[in-house]
Order: sequence, then C-alpha cells, then structure tokens
Amino acid sequence: MTNAVFEKASLAGIQLKNRIIRSATHEGMADEKGLPTEKLKKLYIRLAKGEVGAIITGYAGIQADGKSSLFAMSMIDSDDSIQAYREITSAVHEYGTPIIMQIAHCGRQTRSKSTGLQTVAPSAMRDAFYSEDMPRELSEVEINQIIDNFVSAIVRVKQAGFDGVQLHLAHGYLLSEFLSSHSNRRKDRWGGSTENKYRIVGEIFKRAEERVGGYPILVKMNAHDGRGNGMKIEEAVRIAQLLEKSGCAAIEVSCGVFEDGLYSMRGEKLPADAAMAYTFKYKHLPGPVKAIAKPVLRAFMKQPKPLLKYNLDAAIQIKAAVNIPVIVVGGINNIDDINAIIRNHHLDFVSMSRPFIIEPGIVSKFIQGTDTKSKCIMCNYCAIIGEERPLKCYYGKLP
Ligand SMILES: Cc1cc2nc3c(=O)[nH]c(=O)nc-3n(C[C@H](O)[C@H](O)[C@H](O)COP(=O)(O)O)c2cc1C
Repeated sequence: MTNAVFEKASLAGIQLKNRIIRSATHEGMADEKGLPTEKLKKLYIRLAKGEVGAIITGYAGIQADGKSSLFAMSMIDSDDSIQAYREITSAVHEYGTPIIMQIAHCGRQTRSKSTGLQTVAPSAMRDAFYSEDMPRELSEVEINQIIDNFVSAIVRVKQAGFDGVQLHLAHGYLLSEFLSSHSNRRKDRWGGSTENKYRIVGEIFKRAEERVGGYPILVKMNAHDGRGNGMKIEEAVRIAQLLEKSGCAAIEVSCGVFEDGLYSMRGEKLPADAAMAYTFKYKHLPGPVKAIAKPVLRAFMKQPKPLLKYNLDAAIQIKAAVNIPVIVVGGINNIDDINAIIRNHHLDFVSMSRPFIIEPGIVSKFIQGTDTKSKCIMCNYCAIIGEERPLKCYYGKLP
C-alpha cells in the first residue's frame, strides 16, 4: 500500500501528524545551566503550529565533558532539568504534535576551552577540525559510566513527557566515533569487529530496556562519511540490523563527520566568510593569514555531489535490510521529492533541518499548496555562526 505524505502515521506507537519530521537542529537556546528557555519553547510552538509531523529537538548533552562547544547547548544530565522540559512537552502537545528529544555526548568534537574538561574519545586521536585538543582514550570504567549516563538521560526524557528519544549516532560525535574504524582503533571488546564497535550502543539499549522497557528509542546514524577508513554503506547496513535486534524504534539515515567539513549539510555556497569571522578555529588568525587561509578553507568545505537528497540511496539500502521505520534526511527541500521518497521509494518518513530554520511553518505551506519548495539557499551560515549565537537564518549574509 502506498503511504500518503500528509496522512497521520504511527512510529513505534507515536502518532505523527504526517510524514515530514523536523530533524534535530541545535538551537543554542538553553540558559547557563543548560535548561530550556522561553525562546526555545516559542520556537517549538512555531514548529508545532506549522503542522510538522513531529519535532526532534537539537542534541541535548548527557554529561558535562560531552557538552557541545556550540553556543548554549541544552543539557539533560540532571533530574533537576525534568520539570523545565515538562513545560516544553506540555506546550508542544497542546498542538497535538509529538516531540522527541535527541541526546548526545560530543566525544572529541568539542573543545576543552568550552567544557572546562579534558576531551574524551574511543581512541586518543586528534580531530582535524577540533584540533587544539588531544582527546584521552576512555577507560572501561568510563565507558560503563557513559552507558549509564545515557540510560539515566533516557529515563529523564521519558519523565519529562517526550514521546520518544533519539540517540545521536551520527556526524562524528561519541557514539558515531565508536562505530567508525576511522576514530575507533581500540583493541579491546569496544573496538575491532562491527559487533565490538557497536557494543556501547547495544548496551545502552539493553540497560534502557530494564529501566523504561517499550519506550521508543530512535537513532540517527551515519550511512557513510568522507573518511577513507570511515563508515561505508555495507557496514552501516549491518549496524542497522544490529539496531533492529536491539529494539530500536526507527533509524534516521544521515552522513558525515566534522572533519569532512559540511558533508552532512551540503550546499553550493561555501561559508568561508562566516567561518573566518565566527569559528574558534579561524577567528583569531591575523588578517594576512586569514587572507591565505580563506581559499584553503573553501576547498576544505567543498562538498561532493549530489548536493540534494544525498542520503536517499543509502536509506533505500538500509530500508531493504530492516523491518523498522526508516527516516531519510539531507538536502530534501521540495514537496515533489518528498512525495516521491514516500510513495515511490517506500521510505517511511522524511526529515529536514535547514528548511525549518527559514520557515518553521513550511509543512503547512506545503499542505495548503502556497509553497512547493523551501526558501533555504543552503548557505550554512546558521551552522557556522551557531558556534557563537542562537539558531537563526542569515540567508548568506554576515550579521
Ligand atoms: C544549524 C544546524 C544545527 C544542527 N544540529 C544538529 C543536531 O543537533 N543534531 C543532529 O543530529 N543534526 C544536526 N544538524 C544536521 C541536520 O539535522 C541535518 O542532518 C542536516 O542539516 C541535513 O539536512 P537538511 O539538508 O534538511 O538541512 C544540524 C544542522 C544545522 C544546519
């Protein structure tokens, strides 16, 4: 049977308004304790009013050393945060919209300058983008603690009234670092074979089942990245099958790590100006060095084609290998493509990030037929400037 994009749909018991999801997008709207602000609540309400099928929040941190170096990340590392998030979920539920919280540990893709703590990773290997820190290899005890902290965060997410939780296994953050041979060089039971690299994720599912059995746990995972010895579709398919066995509710298919530049959020226009002005790595460079560095940076940021629907082939391959819902994200920006992805390619859901930044109400425009295509120009200034400021569309202009 063919699915219709704008009909209600169920995902592991969560009732979605339609098949278009707001993919996790770091908002940078938490207070100094990592708690959600009124500004964040208002953003979610705008999304809910705009008829999005479901909202996935920007990533929320599960422990202090895994906090993002981007501006004002939400944290879910303490029971004290539950009440504040309950206000968010109640407000969104008034519009009949489900909301799922994405949780993460940033691993080596953060800066000790921001967290005040040593960065950690599966292996002590420097990240080419977060290059000022040399991460410390996690011990067995620390890995177990991280698993428990993920599980405690999942319990809190449920208590706060979210309809489900999404584990961030993509984009080079800690769990993605474990899954990829590029960043995981361990020789113990946490590295080597696919099963060993997956062990940390499998343990989170196992221990979560004991605490909140049946609660929907989704994942966002990388199907591929630009690293020679990194993730490839064949291994991603195998990981998707392990996830299904673990009881995963749905898989969102993405790609890329920060070392790849903007591989996971591609665009034609390369935001070198914004990077020079707003990223920690480049903003302190002296003027003449900046002038030389700019073209180099432009080359580093250049993304492979296609620039649109770039995870679709991988998502189709993963869908063919599992019996749980598959969501595809990445360069999806018009209703004709969305219809084709759902009807012809039989994927369960599509998700978008950047189109919702410029138009939180884009789904209602699609439904009414007033818009058929996103106004987003994929300049990625939103992502670059997010290191210093809350989420906003800059439309290719420096603030
Ligand atoms: C400003 C910004 C913040 C993002 N934050 C997150 C995040 O917190 N978690 C995540 O999984 N992906 C994040 N992403 C990636 C998007 O969810 C998405 O995978 C990517 O942008 C490709 O989709 P799009 O073409 O619809 O934007 C972010 C992207 C942008 C532009």
